[in-house]
Amino acid sequence: MQTIKTVAITGGASGLGKALALRFAREGWNVAIADLNQARGDETLQQLKTSARDAFFSLCDVRSASDILHWRDAILARWKRIDVVINNAGVATHGAIDRSSEDDWNWVIDINLMGVVRGCKYFTETFKQQGFGHIVNVASMAGLIHSPEMSSYNATKAGVVAISETLRGELKPYGIGITVVCPGFFQTNLAESTRSPDADASKMVSKLLATSAISADDIADMIFLAIAQKRYLVLPHASYRRLWYLKRFLPFLYGRMMDKIGRKIALMRSHKKNISTEGSPT
Ligand SMILES: NC(=O)c1ccc[n+]([C@@H]2O[C@H](COP(=O)([O-])OP(=O)(O)OC[C@H]3O[C@@H](n4cnc5c(N)ncnc54)[C@H](O)[C@@H]3O)[C@@H](O)[C@H]2O)c1
Repeated sequence: MQTIKTVAITGGASGLGKALALRFAREGWNVAIADLNQARGDETLQQLKTSARDAFFSLCDVRSASDILHWRDAILARWKRIDVVINNAGVATHGAIDRSSEDDWNWVIDINLMGVVRGCKYFTETFKQQGFGHIVNVASMAGLIHSPEMSSYNATKAGVVAISETLRGELKPYGIGITVVCPGFFQTNLAESTRSPDADASKMVSKLLATSAISADDIADMIFLAIAQKRYLVLPHASYRRLWYLKRFLPFLYGRMMDKIGRKIALMRSHKKNISTEGSPT
């Protein structure tokens, strides 16, 4: 008898999480999505029901350990196994270090970093008991290259890369795989969540998301393949991949480029023009 596999996706009601949910559903997996957004969760569930073997949506806040435990246990009660967890839920922040509030720092850390920590911790308990499982952490190119005026977002995503690399060696002996995904900008609803001391930040992020040559569906395809191939690192955007190679192999040139972006932003601020997150990957 063929084994029916199960995927659990946080932030599964929108953007990349939704694209992933629909991708796994098309492959005949059981799909559990968790999100804060009830309306989008219900809408995504309706779409999943046309192709997934079985699917359900849980109202779940990744800032709450009890929400995650409750969701995990509901999946196990329904399907008895979990093959893949995708820690995808995330929000955006932007702002100069002296102008960003500590509240915004705490908020983005609790979701983008601690949300991933909680997903890794509580699903690893299950994966160790089962003797198999795969964790996907959605970081960002911002976790590898760090542009000016993005310090809180950059710090959370760099943290996700560090956790993923740590778990790669730590969990392999238990039969647990890990993939970390570092995309640049792509079109989703991420701009809606943006917190920044600059009133027009959400509009600017929105513009940047629209510049991508690849879509959430393309990235979902790449992630699906990476899990099948047990690949650790997914860098979906060719342009940002080149930037990362520049940082690794020609750090002097990379430093000059970041200095230039910083000077341009400072100049725009002194002219009180719109501040852009130009060149910064989300
Ligand atoms: N869109 C981009 O350009 C881009 C680039 C790099 C990385 N990412 C990352 O991709 C991931 C998915 O984002 P997206 O672009 O699809 O954005 P999105 O806003 O379309 O989707 C994010 C989802 O996460 C949910 N969410 C937010 N806070 C939550 C919480 N506390 N608990 C549960 N769910 C919560 C939102 O309700 C939303 O449905 C994020 O981690 C983001 O940082 C996005």
